[in-house]
Amino acid sequence: MKTIRYGGDYNPEQWPEEVWHEDVRLMREAGVDLVSLGVFNWGLIEPTPGEYDFGDLDRVMDLLHGNGIGVCLGTPTSSPPAWLRRAHPEIRLVDYDGRVMAGGSRHGVCPSAPAYLEACASIVERLASRYGDHPAVELWHVHNEFGWAGVECFCAVSAAAFRSWLAEKYGDVDRLNRAWGTVFWGLVYRSFDQVEAPSAAPPGVNPALLLDWKRFSAEAHIACYTMQREIIARHSEAPATTNFMIPNCGDMDYFRWAEEVDVVSNNHYLIAEREDNHVELSMSADLTRSVAGGPWMVMEHSTSAVNWQPRNIAKTPGQMRRNSLAHLARGADGLMFFQWRASRAGAEKFHSAMVPHGGTDTRLWREVVDLGADLERLSGVVGADVAAEVAVVWDWESWWAQELEWRPSVDLRFRERIEEYYGSLWRQHVTVDFVRPEADLSGYRLVVAPSAYLLTDAAAKNLRGYVERGGYLLVSYFSGIVDEHDVVHPGAHPGPLRDTLGLWIEEFHPLTEGASLALDSGAVGRIWSEHLRLEGAEALAVFTEGPDAGRAALTRNRLGRGAAWYVATALDDATGLRPLLSEVLDAAGVDRPRGIPEEIELVRRGGYVFLINHGERDVEVAGIEGADALEGTAYTGAVPVPAGGVVVVRIAKERVESGR
Ligand code: GAL
Repeated sequence: MKTIRYGGDYNPEQWPEEVWHEDVRLMREAGVDLVSLGVFNWGLIEPTPGEYDFGDLDRVMDLLHGNGIGVCLGTPTSSPPAWLRRAHPEIRLVDYDGRVMAGGSRHGVCPSAPAYLEACASIVERLASRYGDHPAVELWHVHNEFGWAGVECFCAVSAAAFRSWLAEKYGDVDRLNRAWGTVFWGLVYRSFDQVEAPSAAPPGVNPALLLDWKRFSAEAHIACYTMQREIIARHSEAPATTNFMIPNCGDMDYFRWAEEVDVVSNNHYLIAEREDNHVELSMSADLTRSVAGGPWMVMEHSTSAVNWQPRNIAKTPGQMRRNSLAHLARGADGLMFFQWRASRAGAEKFHSAMVPHGGTDTRLWREVVDLGADLERLSGVVGADVAAEVAVVWDWESWWAQELEWRPSVDLRFRERIEEYYGSLWRQHVTVDFVRPEADLSGYRLVVAPSAYLLTDAAAKNLRGYVERGGYLLVSYFSGIVDEHDVVHPGAHPGPLRDTLGLWIEEFHPLTEGASLALDSGAVGRIWSEHLRLEGAEALAVFTEGPDAGRAALTRNRLGRGAAWYVATALDDATGLRPLLSEVLDAAGVDRPRGIPEEIELVRRGGYVFLINHGERDVEVAGIEGADALEGTAYTGAVPVPAGGVVVVRIAKERVESGR
């Protein structure tokens, strides 16, 4: 990709043909050079089984190509036609409670259903053979948001597929019994046939069963993807992708998914009523870049309001630009929207688009055109890496495991804890990568593990080796507790992290709802405390209240050439987490700008520094020398960043010292 790809989902089937001509004219005006086509058109291109009508699609493809607009061609398998559901009612997705999904919408089908998979293979074969060498096709957009209506299907076919998957994984049933600890409650299996899918059941279902079920369910969607990708590859050299839902779909391991796509693409929608939604956006972008291992693209975001939140708040002037350029700063090489032209009919008519119902004499359209012009000037970032010296451990399986039933406290939330650490680092202008716990950590000065409940022996060994070789590690409570089957590691918690952290835990002390505890450092803890027994670690702060009064709350263990910190409570940001992170960042030698206001997002990508002002006052950032990549202005001292504005500097020299 040489330019930043710009565009959106294009649904010409919703409009008469004369509008298509206006569309391409407007696309050119806005600098749009890529559109997603045919994402939901199965019912139109295959009106009855085995009968095809590609007339409209042929004409649109040629029209786009003739106007220099590339196509990201959808496979329409996320919206099966009504005839397919009627002919094969058994393909309908069954939810946890046994409810069967009716038609009338998209999705809602079982990813393991043979009739569905056969129909998918057949329509994809038709599409790929027809358009595989069409010059407009630059990317294949397989399906749409795998798992959107639920990743898990509890129908009989899925249950049988699960049993085969288990037989393949464990070979013999006694291995499964040992791994799952089925002697507990005598839940032992004598053959794979006896294993049931974990739909509505009395509480206390074996957590190891639940975890493998989640793995199986996600893999069923991946198999549906790879089946399509392989058909496409027989007809086309264009790369394939499918749009991820990072980080909102907790049920898919996108590190795993990323192994299967040629280009990582993601859909991100702002949570309109959340005050720090721009921080959540950054987290999504960093996580997407991390699963991609490099540049990626935004397949969908919105120009303004969506239609599915309780109150769909419009974006304020400049907000779409800030959002888009934040994705770009954090590694996106393409920025696409849902959707090109606002629909008149159907479920999404109140969703914003690049061309709103009000047409082109609108603020929104002008912002769309301006963004296109910005992107043209910023094409130098394409392919460039984002600089990050800090890594945050993120593991979807650990998220799944931690939030199964019957944990020590309902307040032990994976995402909340990660967001606390991420948010605190963000406000200190530290850009992070996310890593799997088994990843190569040697490139990072600091690794933070806010919530690593499930940790394999191999992962724990990896963390230990990282510290011994000079790395700095910060671990938060309820980490290193279980293995990949949700079985507690032998001996005291935190199992395989004991040596690395230089301590063990005698007892957990979850706090009552809303309670807090003071530490002698002036910090306040919430949610959790525990009885730590130090074996090598030194106490940096102690609880002064509660069941662990007088005992360590915060520790450091020097090990080899590095050090490992441990935090035994949920620290309040201002009094605890922020100062702690600042100290640990200093110890690890993480370079970062000091003294610039918290609402300034500062990210370095390749030879560019992005400065995004999320606040309501103008700010000057000192210490950056270079040229404004959008305006051409030369900066030799301070860079002014207006309230709500974005400045991108092509840097000659950077040493951000201060700001005001
Ligand atoms: C996404 C979906 C799009 C559109 C969008 C609206 O989840 O992929 O097709 O429905 O939401 O925000």
